[in-house]
Amino acid sequence: MAIEQTLSLIKPDATRRGLTGAINARIEAAGLAIVAQRRVRLTVAQAEGFYAVHRERGFFADLVAYMASGPVVAQVLEGEGAVARYRELMGPTDPAKAPSGTLRAEFALGLQENSVHGSDSVANAATEIACFFSRLDIVG
Ligand code: CMP
Repeated sequence: MAIEQTLSLIKPDATRRGLTGAINARIEAAGLAIVAQRRVRLTVAQAEGFYAVHRERGFFADLVAYMASGPVVAQVLEGEGAVARYRELMGPTDPAKAPSGTLRAEFALGLQENSVHGSDSVANAATEIACFFSRLDIVG
């Protein structure tokens, strides 16, 4: 399988509860390397831009307000099949449907406050990584 990169966000519900280290330990234990990381507070405009694909959805305004409500930790994860591997580690969007052992089953508070985001394709990963990092920031 090809070496891929994916964009991970540790979301405000998780940073607020001091879960960055616990989530990072799970990421590394799953065989994914954290090759870039920064903690940032998104503005409303930045959150709207990042989630623009969801702008017609009923939950968009709430999602944007939540994502701008506190720090996020943005990360580039690298490894074989990193996009699918991280989505498997996260579990589905709705934590009520997440298998035990996944990040969302263990840490998420609800459908919106679901602790982590991961890119859904290699192409979208490249776009999302560029929202937070330049080439020089990513050190494998
Ligand atoms: P994420 O994987 O980052 O992609 C979009 C985010 O929108 C999702 O995680 C949740 O945080 C949020 N989201 C998705 N569906 C809903 C929903 N039905 N109601 C509220 N928030 C949602």
